[in-house]
Amino acid sequence: MNFYSSKYLFKLSVIIIVFVAFLTGCGKKSDAHKIRIGFSQAMTTDDWRKQMNKAMLIEASMHPEVDLLLYDGNNDIAQQIKDIENLIKQKVDVIIVSPIQSKPITEVVEKAMNAGIPVLIIDRKIESENYTAYVGADNIEIGRNAANYILLKATNKTSRIIEIKGLSGSSPAFERSLGFNHILNQSDHLELIGSIDGNWEAISIKKEFENLLKKEKNIDFVFAHNDRMAFGAWEVAKELGLEKNIQFVGVDGLNTSNGGIQLVEKGVLSATVFYPTGGNEALKLALKIVKNDPFSKSNILNSIIIDPLNAEIIKNQLNKIDEQQESIKAQLNVIKIQDEKYYTQGNMIKILAVLLIILFSLALYSIYSAVTISRKKKLLELTNQKIVIQRNQIAKQVNIIKINNEAKFNFFTGISHEFKTPLTLILSSVESLKSDFQNKDKKLRNEVDLIFNNSKRLLRLINQLLDFKKSEDNNFRLKPSKTNIWKFSKGIFQDFKREAKKRNIDFTITTTNENLEIYIDRNLMDKVYFNLLSNAFKFTPNNGEISITIKDHKNADCVSICFADSGIGIPQGELQNVFTAFYQGSNNYRNSSGIGLHLSKNFIDLHQGKIEVISKKGTEFTLTLLKGKLHLNEKDIIEEPLLNLVEEADYLEAEDINLSNKSVEDKDKYTILFY
Ligand code: FRU
Repeated sequence: MNFYSSKYLFKLSVIIIVFVAFLTGCGKKSDAHKIRIGFSQAMTTDDWRKQMNKAMLIEASMHPEVDLLLYDGNNDIAQQIKDIENLIKQKVDVIIVSPIQSKPITEVVEKAMNAGIPVLIIDRKIESENYTAYVGADNIEIGRNAANYILLKATNKTSRIIEIKGLSGSSPAFERSLGFNHILNQSDHLELIGSIDGNWEAISIKKEFENLLKKEKNIDFVFAHNDRMAFGAWEVAKELGLEKNIQFVGVDGLNTSNGGIQLVEKGVLSATVFYPTGGNEALKLALKIVKNDPFSKSNILNSIIIDPLNAEIIKNQLNKIDEQQESIKAQLNVIKIQDEKYYTQGNMIKILAVLLIILFSLALYSIYSAVTISRKKKLLELTNQKIVIQRNQIAKQVNIIKINNEAKFNFFTGISHEFKTPLTLILSSVESLKSDFQNKDKKLRNEVDLIFNNSKRLLRLINQLLDFKKSEDNNFRLKPSKTNIWKFSKGIFQDFKREAKKRNIDFTITTTNENLEIYIDRNLMDKVYFNLLSNAFKFTPNNGEISITIKDHKNADCVSICFADSGIGIPQGELQNVFTAFYQGSNNYRNSSGIGLHLSKNFIDLHQGKIEVISKKGTEFTLTLLKGKLHLNEKDIIEEPLLNLVEEADYLEAEDINLSNKSVEDKDKYTILFY
């Protein structure tokens, strides 16, 4: 994939990601626009409070935009203050408070108002008027209703009454008492015998009521500020066997087991004053406030006396309302489930749409890629064709060059061959002249020597050239014969001895085993020795040192022949090139064909041997040749006469010839007969 297409793919991915984020963002129900209503409930220990909460929750669930945060003060004023402060901190849209007591909660309500949060008071009031709205029944009216009921039930004689009050400091207790006593004071037939301060719970009044009953006989009516305390009082009276003599009136009128309505039905209570919780009304009002809809500050809920005459009807009505509420709840649940389904399906559709878009984009991209690739392929094919044409042309040219080279080389080799015969003839004539002039004029003898030496040199060069061609054509075939390597080496050593003496070179040969016999092609090995020694003599200055060291490595089954000189040496960087054909060393100022060492390596390779060179002080060439004949082709092995050890004495008596060309001379004398 090239830079542009990856850039394109990147852009495409970014667009898709943004698109997916956008779509899924739209699909989610956002909390950002929710109306947050905080509700600080005084406690949830009794059924009346539970009903208030339930009514509020049902109403809230009908408004999906509402988030109702319910806090329970557990009848602990400090806790309720904390709850309201918490709601202020959360910056809810409206706070509904049902205070435990009026005075202690007033300050924190005002704090909320000052923070700009509307506060809705429900049931019990606070001490100030600094709140947004109030919801609840008229508790003075409730007190009055209770008193009026008693008045209705009272006989002509003066009725003796006990009042059981709710928690002092909570507004319903104060107001109910106020209304009740207001009526009582207007009537001559109603006499308040005593009053008990309760805390809304039965347990808080039982003891005191018992004492009062024991003290005051003939009590006709008991008015308790709620049904729970009224029932507690009835229980006390029952224990004292007085329950039939007293008529109990309570407040709340809950439609629950042991709620006010049931107690009236059972005949425990004579009547109960219905006190609505106002839970649903409070939530509706809170919404109006948040939405800036018109609302009244004081929202008074209706109340009614429930006695055996209407208890049944009211119960049925309340049951119906409950049923309706339950059905609304169930319907809301269904709506919620369907809503969720709708959202899931909606999201699925969106995801599918996104996937389709991705698929479509990928398809587009694939088409784009396919087109680009096919274009590039065509281009590549064209380039390939061009390359093939060029390659063929080059191959043709190379072939032509090769044929030309071959022709030139063949011509050159042919000419070299042609040179060899006359040159050999010249050499043999000069050799005869040499013996003729042996005892003659010294100057003339020197001239003849010069002709002889140079002719020898020329012949050696021609032979090397022919060997090179033969080696390149792989035409050399190894003809190994069993040879005493010491005697063989010593023979060649002797050939170079005179030259060494003339130039005062310390020339030595040593061996670790004079009897060691190995298989070598004497002719080829002779050329190798000759080449290595010629080089050594060529680069070693007068008075230097040259040595041949033969080592029989008994354990390694090989022999090493080391040719060391104290010459100028070869620079380290050039050592790896010395066996390359036509390579000329940087410090080689002598005339050299550059094929001698190349040929030597080829000859040693033919022997399955090794030739290595190191150069520190002077140069050291080491040949490593295998012993035995396992590495050779049995068919190639030939028989050759045993060698005689050429001793120094024999050598000194030998003809004075140029030693450096001796081996070539000997072989070539025979070779020429073949040509
Ligand atoms: C419930 C309750 C009711 C009573 C009301 C007065 O907690 O005690 O029984 O009517 O509170 O606030």
